[in-house]
Amino acid sequence: MLLWYNALAMRILAIESSCDDTAVAIVEGGRRVLVNLVSSQEKLHAKYGGVVPEVASRRHLEVIYPLIELALKKARLAPDKINAIAVTTHPGLLGSLLVGVNAAKTLGYLWNRPVVGVNHLVGHIYAGWLGKAKIQYPLVSLVTSGGHSEIVLTRKMGEYKYLGGTLDDAAGEAFDKVARHLKLGYPGGPAIAAEAAKLKVKSEKLKVREGRIILPRPMLDEDNFDFSFSGLKTAVTRVVGRRADIAWEFQEAVVEVLSEKLFAAARKYRAKTVLIGGGVAANKRLREEVEKRAQKLGVRVIIPDFEYCTDNAAMIGVAAYYLQRRGKDKWYNANVIVG
Ligand code: KG4
Ligand code: ZN
Repeated sequence: MLLWYNALAMRILAIESSCDDTAVAIVEGGRRVLVNLVSSQEKLHAKYGGVVPEVASRRHLEVIYPLIELALKKARLAPDKINAIAVTTHPGLLGSLLVGVNAAKTLGYLWNRPVVGVNHLVGHIYAGWLGKAKIQYPLVSLVTSGGHSEIVLTRKMGEYKYLGGTLDDAAGEAFDKVARHLKLGYPGGPAIAAEAAKLKVKSEKLKVREGRIILPRPMLDEDNFDFSFSGLKTAVTRVVGRRADIAWEFQEAVVEVLSEKLFAAARKYRAKTVLIGGGVAANKRLREEVEKRAQKLGVRVIIPDFEYCTDNAAMIGVAAYYLQRRGKDKWYNANVIVG
């Protein structure tokens, strides 16, 4: 069992392999990122229009050990300077998770270091700890990625109350599917954002709303914190128009629903801080809208840097540091959790 007598110098090597990015980071003292490496499989899956699980796990296996070696080299650290290992255990693609967890356990065994398992979504929330802003509770977080769109209430560190989430497609998944429909490529989020950005003039954007394309804002009038994006995706397939107009209106619809529900939760639970995380939190329009609404409500807002919104291992290292300090997780037996 590891002692936290020198928490500021605590160095955690973190591994993330839950989906299609292999990521390794070394985090010192819970906030200082010494190295943050991501080996993306984007190109590999692009021709399929989405992640192919077996292809993903095979690639993880190829790159994970070289990436660990590179991380140590870049941080100029020998393995004996690493105090603990953190790894994503769930949720994610089973074959992908197994590669990361197996690597973490092997290192833990060889280096005689504890291994701590981290929930991927909790990791996305802890990405918010990487900035300078101080978190005040209650905290309401929106974790929105390719696999999840969830609103979570944290009254004190280490506690997560699920307030609501998607009933069908996650927001990122909807971005990816709509991009495929519009033949914009994969991953869809950045592709749709770039297409929508072609509408530079305000009058052009207004014309989309007033003149032609109007897409639904699903579940906005319901008094809960759930989302549904599959109907919106279907609605896109029925409209006819310029690609940039459709991309713009689709992005607006997703941003409006996500931010409206997030701030409804923030008001209800009298949040002092609002945080967004996950790949979709890299979306500029969403970031703008969340900043604007937070200012209006008078709450702190935490939006991680782009590199800490999409999948990365630094957030897993940070989560392990804070959770373990509070004694929430065991330092051994990090296993993949299914379901
Ligand atoms: O968190 P993440 O890297 O992986 C998962 O845990 O799923 O999120 C990936 C998702 C993809 O669906 C991608 O299209 C979306 O995040 N995404 C974006 C943007 N960048 C990535 N969605 C909207 N706008 C973006 N700029
Ligand atoms: Zn993620």
